[in-house]
Amino acid sequence: MTPQNTTVVSFDQQGIARAAALILAGDCVAVPTETVYGLAADATNGQAVARIYEAKGRPAFNPLIVHVSTLEDAQALAVFDDAACDLARRYWPGPLTLVLPARPGSPIAPLATAGLTTIALRVPAHRAMRALLAACGRPLAAPSANASGRISPTTADHVVASLNGRIPLILNDGATHNGLESTIVAVDAAGRRLLRPGPVTAEDLGLVPTQSDRIEAPGQLASHYRPKKPIVLNRTAASAETWLIGFGPVAGDASLSSTGNLVEAAARLFACLHEADASDRTTIAVAPIPFTGLGAAINDRLSRAAA
Ligand code: TXA
Ligand code: MG
Repeated sequence: MTPQNTTVVSFDQQGIARAAALILAGDCVAVPTETVYGLAADATNGQAVARIYEAKGRPAFNPLIVHVSTLEDAQALAVFDDAACDLARRYWPGPLTLVLPARPGSPIAPLATAGLTTIALRVPAHRAMRALLAACGRPLAAPSANASGRISPTTADHVVASLNGRIPLILNDGATHNGLESTIVAVDAAGRRLLRPGPVTAEDLGLVPTQSDRIEAPGQLASHYRPKKPIVLNRTAASAETWLIGFGPVAGDASLSSTGNLVEAAARLFACLHEADASDRTTIAVAPIPFTGLGAAINDRLSRAAA
């Protein structure tokens, strides 16, 4: 990616306006939450979400946490049963993330949920993140604002150390309160499961922490959408029974990006896989994707799907 100037601004009306303008233009911005600093982008814009991965240099796509202002906003994106409502009323706004069945037809970009039928949602308490959500008027996807493989940032200086030159703006509002990523609980028909321990403890939740050492780790196979049909990679042509996903000069039945743009390709990846799976062909082929920049994460995802 091309290096850019990273500006640090303080949390005030002007800072929020600047951050919101960047996000509405499809960029990503570092912003504090009560847990850690997040790297936020418009969760309904696939290319904006792709820029998060690009900035972090993440070699794989993990589903991201989607942040919203209120429980009502969250209910527009996911199906809440009684147990989920109860948790939300007790801990939101706050450092608890709920993984719930996504509402079909929700505007969230497939890349934000890694193509899953579930979605991770959180209503944060921090004034800066809340002001940014209000100013943007849309859900914000945000992983921790650190380069891949580095520890989560709890100050603006940590973000500078990790992402300087890779993002346009950091909103500085001092050190975060919790200093630890949010607790993640999945709620479904099978009950409640603690996926990641955090500031809201297993004792608080009344959950037995049997899963606490078995976090559904980033990049874990089972937590990603996997096509049902066999996939082959690096093909420039395919038989009549095969749905070819194109890229650049390879047109295919549908293209990840006809101009060979990796940000666009990342944004379209899961939608293209779903489309190929739903087609009348028996197998899927994918055009060669370069391994540079976001291409590494796209190839990682594809090779897992093909394994
Ligand atoms: O405190 C936090 O949660 C911070 C702040 C910025 O909100 N965010 C954060 O995001 O820690 P991140 O991307 O570093 O961690 C998100 C975790 C990942 O481990 C991911 O696998 C899990 O959430 N996750 C997201 N969606 C999921 C889903 N549908 N099912 C299971 N796990 C999911
Ligand atoms: Mg992280």
